[in-house]
Amino acid sequence: MSEPPRNISRCIKLDANESPFGASPRAIEAMRRAAEKANIYPDNSARELREKLAGIHRVGFDQVLVSAGLTDLLGIIARLLLKPGSNAVTSQRSFIHYVTATRQAGGELIEVPMQNDGFDLRGIASAVNEKTRIVFLANPNNPTGTLFDAVATDELLDQLPDHVTVILDEAYYEYAQYFAGERGIQYSHSVEYLRQKRNLLVLRTFSKVYGLAGVRVGYAFGAPGILKQVAEAQSTFAVSVIAQAGALAALDDRDHVQQALESNARGMKFLFDGLCRLGLCPVPSWANFVYCDVRQDAAAFAARMEERGVLIRSLAPWGAATAVRVTVGTAEQNQAFLQTCEKVLEP
Ligand SMILES: Cc1ncc(COP(=O)(O)O)c(C=O)c1O
Repeated sequence: MSEPPRNISRCIKLDANESPFGASPRAIEAMRRAAEKANIYPDNSARELREKLAGIHRVGFDQVLVSAGLTDLLGIIARLLLKPGSNAVTSQRSFIHYVTATRQAGGELIEVPMQNDGFDLRGIASAVNEKTRIVFLANPNNPTGTLFDAVATDELLDQLPDHVTVILDEAYYEYAQYFAGERGIQYSHSVEYLRQKRNLLVLRTFSKVYGLAGVRVGYAFGAPGILKQVAEAQSTFAVSVIAQAGALAALDDRDHVQQALESNARGMKFLFDGLCRLGLCPVPSWANFVYCDVRQDAAAFAARMEERGVLIRSLAPWGAATAVRVTVGTAEQNQAFLQTCEKVLEP
C-alpha cells in the first residue's frame, strides 16, 4: 500500500541528499531554451554531453555512457549481469537501490556486515563466490557517509576474480574529492582503472552537487564493450533534451559547483559540531549528508521532526533502528534543523 500524501511543500527538506543550492543559473537558462525545442526528439547517443565528459575526464568517447540518472542505470546493469542463481555482493546499510535492482533482476544480494559504520572490504572480497557477478561499492556510502581510499580500492580490485564486474558508485564524487583535498587523502583512482582495463564501471550523477536531481541525468565510465551492451539495454531517447542541455551547461559553471562545495563543507562542520554539542555522535562524512545515532526510535524521532517542519531520513528500513540521515542544507536550514532537533530531544 502506498503511503498517505504528506504536506511537505513548506517543510525544510533534508531527507534525500539533494543540493539545497539548486542548479546553476546557466543550467536553468539552458533548460529553458531547450524547452523551446521540446517537440524534437533528443540525441539518443547524447554525443555532445559524452564528448564533454570524455574531455573533462580524459577518457575515450566510447568509454562514457549517459543515463537517465543512476537508479535507472543500476537497474539496467543488474538485469544485464544477474539472473536467478547468481548473486551480487555489497555492504550492509548501503544504497537501498542495490537491493531493489538485484531483486528485480532475480539475483541474490549478499550484504556484508559493516565495520565501524563503513565498508568491510576484506569481508566483501571473502563473500565473493563463483556465482557472484557484481560487487556494488558506494564510495562515499549512502547512508553512512563513510569512504574508503584509493589504495584500499586498489587492494580490493586485485583480489576479485574476472567474472565479477565492480560497480564503483561515486554519486558523491565531487564532495568526496573536496573533502579529500582538505583532509589530505587520495580518494579515487577510478578513471585510472579504465586505463588498466579492469572489469569495472564508475558511476557519477548530476543529481547531487549539480543540483539536477529532478531532471534525471547520470553517467558511467567503463570499457566500450560493456557500455555498448548497457546502451543497447537502455530505453530509446531515455535522456531528455532538457536533461542533456542542463547537464552540459552545468559542467560549464565551475563557480556554482565550487560555491556549493564550500557551502556544504561549512554546513557539514556546523551540523557535525552542533550534533556533538547535543550529545549525539555523528559519523564523519565525506558527502552532503550526515549519519547520526539519536539513541531512540529513529522513525518516531523523524516523525516528531516532521511535525515541526523538518524532514530527515529514519534509517530503520536499513536496519539501523536508532539512526537518522540528515542532508546538509543552507545555513538557515542547518540552524533550523539543530534548533528543532534540540527541542525534539528534550526529555
Ligand atoms: C550512492 C548513490 N548512488 C546513486 C544514487 C542515485 O542517483 P541518481 O539521482 O542519479 O539516480 C544515489 C542517490 O541518492 C546514491 O546515494
